[in-house]
Amino acid sequence: MKRYQICCIGAGYVGGPTMSMIAYQCPHIDVTVVDISQARIDSWNSPSGDLPIYEPGLRELVLSVRDRNLFFSMELDEAIENADMIFVAVNTPTKMSGLGAGRAADLTRWELSARRIAAVATTPKIVVEKSTVPIRTAEAIASVLTASGRTHFSILSNPEFLAEGLEQALKYLLCVHFCKGTAIQDLQNPDRVLIGTNTEDPCSVEAMNVLVDIYSHWVPRNRILTTNVWSSELSKLVANSCLAQRVSTINAVSEICEATGADIDEVANAVGLDKRIGVKFLKASIGFGGSCFQKDILSLVYLCESLGLDEVAEYFYWIVKLNDHQKERFVFRIIHGLFNTVTGKRITILGFAFKKDTGDTRESSAIEVCRRLLHENAILSIYDPKVQSSQILSDLGHCTRLDPLELNQHVSIYADPYEACNQSHALVVCTEWDLFKELDFERIYCQMEKPAFAFDGRNILPHERMKSLGFVVYGIGKPL
Ligand code: NAD
Ligand code: UGA
Repeated sequence: MKRYQICCIGAGYVGGPTMSMIAYQCPHIDVTVVDISQARIDSWNSPSGDLPIYEPGLRELVLSVRDRNLFFSMELDEAIENADMIFVAVNTPTKMSGLGAGRAADLTRWELSARRIAAVATTPKIVVEKSTVPIRTAEAIASVLTASGRTHFSILSNPEFLAEGLEQALKYLLCVHFCKGTAIQDLQNPDRVLIGTNTEDPCSVEAMNVLVDIYSHWVPRNRILTTNVWSSELSKLVANSCLAQRVSTINAVSEICEATGADIDEVANAVGLDKRIGVKFLKASIGFGGSCFQKDILSLVYLCESLGLDEVAEYFYWIVKLNDHQKERFVFRIIHGLFNTVTGKRITILGFAFKKDTGDTRESSAIEVCRRLLHENAILSIYDPKVQSSQILSDLGHCTRLDPLELNQHVSIYADPYEACNQSHALVVCTEWDLFKELDFERIYCQMEKPAFAFDGRNILPHERMKSLGFVVYGIGKPL
């Protein structure tokens, strides 16, 4: 009997891990992930398991199913034609030019994928929107898919709510399978799976039930929500906006703390213990990063503007504005602390990824912090446990427009945090990697120029201990 076939277009941060999970949980289904990038596919197929994405636990997951019922391939047409269900998980970045530049989502890759499906498919397909897209994208996609009239397509919206740094979630899933009884409550299942469909079309409802069945292999049925397509598309943008809004709120409060002597961690704890508010996403920082928060808020802002909802647009836009302000004022604080000049001073950047447990630097706040410090002629020593040197240089080259020679004169990248701190005037924590908490600060203090400064953009360092060693420590929203 023919096995059920899933194809996923886009082997990125979403396509790779989510399809690996489906293959792992559903051994009776064959999953083929395709991409236009040969390098990405080669990396997913790497015999040594050197995957294109760093996520603790992902390697084990992929290796347990790869070439069993999970395949990575460049053969888009073949995978499309064989598939019963096609997920589209291509990137949908903010448009950089033309109508809606700086706000609207760029759907070029999505439309290209849809056109490819339309050109190749000869049998009925369920097409699943996995990428984050503006509301009513499914309608546009339906027009592209059905134009040829060759076969029937059912379109579902199934936005992904996964956060990077999957360590614990993946560990849990592996534990459950390999060492039964080891359970980490709360990480057992996603909070919810959302599936949007055209409830008036029986074929779409049937397609929705197929997708519900797939998720039901590991997600409790009461956490699989079904809605209409537009609610599903909009919910994804709103979820990211709500999460980012909490971060901007707490970061705004951190500025009040610095001006008054209140302590942001104490305030966040006191406020968050109210169950109606909750403690999550109230950690003050140098500002949120990552490929999605800003892009999705801007997409929502663009939607509101297009609908003439100017006040609503402005409300959401302020989340991004406050985020920019937080990064800017963090750098001002560094410069001000270092006697109003960083010219020629060595500054150690601890962490370059947009958050811990990932090697992803997209929209990382560290990039903006480094850009501003380089603009002030600082000399940067950068250490991140997972981000490749080439990625750091490419990000900084791109944002500063310095050529590689100039960049090399101002930026050094180290594989060892102690070497990165040597002869430095200041430590600047940009990413909350756990290992930074455990560093030997006595050793680091001895190696540094005096006075030795620490600017903790994540409030993770042992401030009191460091102060007793002689450091001048600045935290976010902390009394001086
Ligand atoms: P990504 O850039 O890591 O991966 C996208 C992949 O699609 C790339 O490998 C690219 O080569 C491939 N691609 C682009 N056009 C293609 C085409 N025409 N045919 C075949 N392959 C093509 O992006 P991502 O982080 O995986 O995000 C994908 C979508 O999921 C975005 O809409 C994003 O907003 C959303 N999302 C991302 C996350 C996350 O944690 N990164 C979480 C939830 C939702
Ligand atoms: C986020 C959402 O959490 C996911 O649900 C969503 O699927 C995903 O975006 C997406 O659509 O791409 P992610 O970007 O991987 O996931 O990471 P988060 O943990 O949400 O962190 C985002 C940024 O906010 C990071 O820079 C993080 O350091 C920062 N942050 C987060 C804070 O500064 N403070 C907090 O309290 C929480």
